[in-house]
Amino acid sequence: MTRQDALQTLTGLISNPNLIKHHLACEVIMLSLCKRLNPKADSLTLNKWGTVGLLHDADYELTRDNPTQHTLVLEQRIGNLLDSDVMYAIKAHNFQKTGVEPKSQMDWAMYCCDELSGLIIAAALVHPDKKLASLTPDFVMKRYNEKGFAQGADREQIALCEQKLNIALPQFIQIALSAMQKIAPDLNL
Ligand SMILES: [Fe+2]
Ligand SMILES: [Fe+2]
Repeated sequence: MTRQDALQTLTGLISNPNLIKHHLACEVIMLSLCKRLNPKADSLTLNKWGTVGLLHDADYELTRDNPTQHTLVLEQRIGNLLDSDVMYAIKAHNFQKTGVEPKSQMDWAMYCCDELSGLIIAAALVHPDKKLASLTPDFVMKRYNEKGFAQGADREQIALCEQKLNIALPQFIQIALSAMQKIAPDLNL
């Protein structure tokens, strides 16, 4: 699926602007992680990683009251249009509910960056400037370590980057933050 088609699919299924931004953030982080983990990645591989980020929660508004169906409804809707490994990674990000275990680097990258993207947005919103450009990895790391801050962002899920992707947590935060800073205007931050 082309990026344009994926974006059109996303905006056709999701109306909440913040949720659209969550997908744009995950997309750009996934692209950076792909380049970092596979320096020779071709455009097809990059497209897959980006598509996973851009569509992973696209059925969220359809499954809000039925979390066990999250990603499975998306599969019913557009599974035939996606590469099987892309669809697999999307289902695996909800593996506690779907039972589809993350296996590949792409699966784990999606699982780990999902929560971090939210933590970074929350960190930007408490920064005096409220701007991604003003954030440093250190600032995000401090918020990460504050138990009371953005409690919905699962720290253990983020920290699996070390074990599953072989990327140290401070490095992971730095990669995600730099990626999101590149699209700050799209995120209105
Ligand atoms: Fe999700
Ligand atoms: Fe998500």
